[in-house]
Amino acid sequence: MKAIKNKPKVHYFQFENWMNDPNGLVVKDGIYHLFYQANPDSKYWGNIGWGHATSEDLITWQDRPHALNASKNQMIFSGSAISSDNLLGYQEELIAFYTACDYEVSDTEEFIVKKQSQCIAISDKSGNIWKHFEKNPVLDIDSSEFRDPKVIKLANNSWLMLVSRAREHAIDFYMSSNLVSWNLYSSFTDCNFRRGAWECPDLIPLSFDGITKHVLIISVDDGFQSGGSGVIYIIGQFENGHFIPDNAQKLSQNYVVLDKGSDFFAPQSFSYEVKSRSAVILGWLNNWQYAKLMPSKGLPMLQSVPRELGLVKSQSGALLLSQTPINSVFEYFNSSHVCKAASIEKQFSEIGKGINGCFMFTVQLNLEKSAGYELNISMERETLLKIVIDEEKNKIFIERTDNDLFENTLNLFESSFTPINDILDIVVIGDYYSFEVFINKNTEAFSIRSYRYFDNLILSHKTLQKVSRYIYQDLKTHLPVKLKY
Ligand code: FRU
Repeated sequence: MKAIKNKPKVHYFQFENWMNDPNGLVVKDGIYHLFYQANPDSKYWGNIGWGHATSEDLITWQDRPHALNASKNQMIFSGSAISSDNLLGYQEELIAFYTACDYEVSDTEEFIVKKQSQCIAISDKSGNIWKHFEKNPVLDIDSSEFRDPKVIKLANNSWLMLVSRAREHAIDFYMSSNLVSWNLYSSFTDCNFRRGAWECPDLIPLSFDGITKHVLIISVDDGFQSGGSGVIYIIGQFENGHFIPDNAQKLSQNYVVLDKGSDFFAPQSFSYEVKSRSAVILGWLNNWQYAKLMPSKGLPMLQSVPRELGLVKSQSGALLLSQTPINSVFEYFNSSHVCKAASIEKQFSEIGKGINGCFMFTVQLNLEKSAGYELNISMERETLLKIVIDEEKNKIFIERTDNDLFENTLNLFESSFTPINDILDIVVIGDYYSFEVFINKNTEAFSIRSYRYFDNLILSHKTLQKVSRYIYQDLKTHLPVKLKY
């Protein structure tokens, strides 16, 4: 294997092999398991099974042997995993639920799906050795668009499985007491984003003010304003096998876009043995509009930084989902050099240069002193990313200006926001080949792939108020950022 020079530091990546959705996210004995859609033989999509990596901090990863492999005319599509102490009676430690995708390739090389059904695989303690369950499939409705099971433990030792009827725009809720026979309880269709294929559903309980809410997350492979694929969420209540959206969301648009950048897809939450743990998701940093073109351009496949989910109330009273990069991401940067300055700059002025690879930038704006803010991230005198805040109109504009792969796609992302309070905070995480931006107490997220690895970056900004800003540079491999005051 070639040594990889410019490796992302806080993202799980694959340079040599194809990778898409995170699968089977589960914590067992303090170890985080990441499975993912993978082609073990090539950089290109096809021959899909589950790759595997593990971590203790969700930043540093150890690659494991491929867990599940495709066979002739059957690929192993997305799904989830749970920790098991012999629940099925095979001394198994992990149980994976996946979609078996039966297919054939026509004479004209067309990929034709014959059937998609839900299956089980079981593993030994290490999670390295896997066997398919002898009674597969455990759920089969004779459909070619039925996929991505997410299994969740409910009270009373019952289990819930969400599965998507992708082209019918329905999420089916099945229940089981033994993980093998599944009964359909309800179907969710009450969402007016009815485009593309609905995929990779998840249902996440989150409490707010002592009340438990449920957030339904659905990935959609096409039809987003930002171009191509994306993710929506709906806040509601899950009761007796039914998901009921909150009334407040029964509006002309009864969903919220989870990430308003172009490159966040198929997020999934970790399944824990202990219930009280916080909800952490990973998503695939990509877009089906151009993902398959990336390998030929030498671009790696990436998972997002892990994000902890929460609920916050905006000043207008609406509940919003927040996505905060987990502590170990902040700790990674906090252990390195910190630069701080407060200033007023009417013209663009350099605030940091010589930034290599991985960095985090934070700034806090006082919305009462409305004056606007602009941040420019550039390399070799070319702007890569521009962030503009119009505080009067409560608007965020983010522009990706590097070209080539992205020239025919939408490169301007915008969002109207309702302030959570008077301070608007911006966090930018730049790692090789990607930016993740979190604004307004992390309720506005933008994940954006970049065409480049980062070398000698310059950060400059324009502001009419005194702002504190920090640049955290990855010092483990690079020199400190040089700041101009
Ligand atoms: C989403 C998806 C899933 C499917 C998998 C195939 O990205 O299309 O619906 O299971 O990818 O790789």
